[in-house]
Amino acid sequence: MKNILITGSAGFIGFHYSNYLLKRKFKVVGIDNINNYYDKKIKYDRLNILKKFKNFKFFKIDILNYKKLNNLVNKYKIQIIVHLAAQAGVRFSISNPKNYISNNIDGFLNILEVSKKNNIKHLVYASSSSIYGMNKKIPFSEKHSASHPISIYAASKRSNELMAHVYSTLFNLPTTGLRFFTVYGPWGRPDMSLFKFVHLNSQNKKIDIYNYGNHTRDFTYIDDAIDIVFKIMKKIPKKSAVKKMSEHESKVPWRIYNISSSRPQKLKLFINEIESQLGKKFRYNKLPLQKGDVEKTSGSMNLTSNKIGFKPKRKLKYGINQFIKWYKSYYKK
Ligand SMILES: NC(=O)c1ccc[n+]([C@@H]2O[C@H](COP(=O)([O-])OP(=O)(O)OC[C@H]3O[C@@H](n4cnc5c(N)ncnc54)[C@H](O)[C@@H]3O)[C@@H](O)[C@H]2O)c1
Repeated sequence: MKNILITGSAGFIGFHYSNYLLKRKFKVVGIDNINNYYDKKIKYDRLNILKKFKNFKFFKIDILNYKKLNNLVNKYKIQIIVHLAAQAGVRFSISNPKNYISNNIDGFLNILEVSKKNNIKHLVYASSSSIYGMNKKIPFSEKHSASHPISIYAASKRSNELMAHVYSTLFNLPTTGLRFFTVYGPWGRPDMSLFKFVHLNSQNKKIDIYNYGNHTRDFTYIDDAIDIVFKIMKKIPKKSAVKKMSEHESKVPWRIYNISSSRPQKLKLFINEIESQLGKKFRYNKLPLQKGDVEKTSGSMNLTSNKIGFKPKRKLKYGINQFIKWYKSYYKK
């Protein structure tokens, strides 16, 4: 089995996906620049788990360093790239837009160039549900247009999809974009709601609830997300398989898929479930809608289930339970 490159392997999804592949005896080369967007300790602790596998090699490389990236891909004869490294987070992008242009746009261009140069068989990369922006038609479908983003983060991810289309066309590079909908679970991101809420609750601190709790989110459990990514990775898009061009399909080897639970939940209910599992009420700061935040995310999984053949299985109650168990053991609470 050839080496698979996972970018962002010290990150939340990159760690889980690397772990999944390593358990199945794949050879994984991981890279990450270990940025300080959130506590680096979690990133190093994730890596320590991966480093126990002899099939895992890790390099602290920034995707903005084209030369190092290209040498690595060449040296390890990489055939598949799963690109998960990025500056994540909608809210951070309001005050730090340049981070997103460099890491997510310039960085992605390097990934495309390296893929072209090394004849990569399949480039799978993370997009985001945030690209649906101002769309009102629910559930969000890949068939809808996505031309009204409301954050630089979303615009950077939508640009990645369009840039991938160019390389799939000009260089016949097979690419698939993953539109993740709020992925959560053990080893999750400290800037995301479940982690933040549980953490603040354990410190008896108030939590900020935006949009007065009236948000709806399609929370996707990490194991479901990973199962789908694996199936997508193996399904290499083919040229000319599609006769009719549409928002989500093209004559060139380029595809995009939603990755959601397709069970959207009101934030209030999500919070109630966490409270009941922790056995402790939250204290709230109820705040208006934050700039850049989409009010409702709900992703259709029709295309993904039809083409990829997988339906998400894990329920929110189970996912929250798994996260709390992990949190308590990690922080010894
Ligand atoms: N978690 C979610 O709910 C979610 C939702 C939508 C999209 N996504 C996307 O999925 C991908 C993975 O997200 P995540 O939640 O694991 O985030 P994460 O922040 O935990 O992981 C990203 C990793 O990439 C690394 N990185 C950032 N810039 C880099 C660079 N220039 N060079 C090398 N490494 C770099 C970071 O250090 C981090 O470890 C990202 O592209 C993110 O935008 C995630």
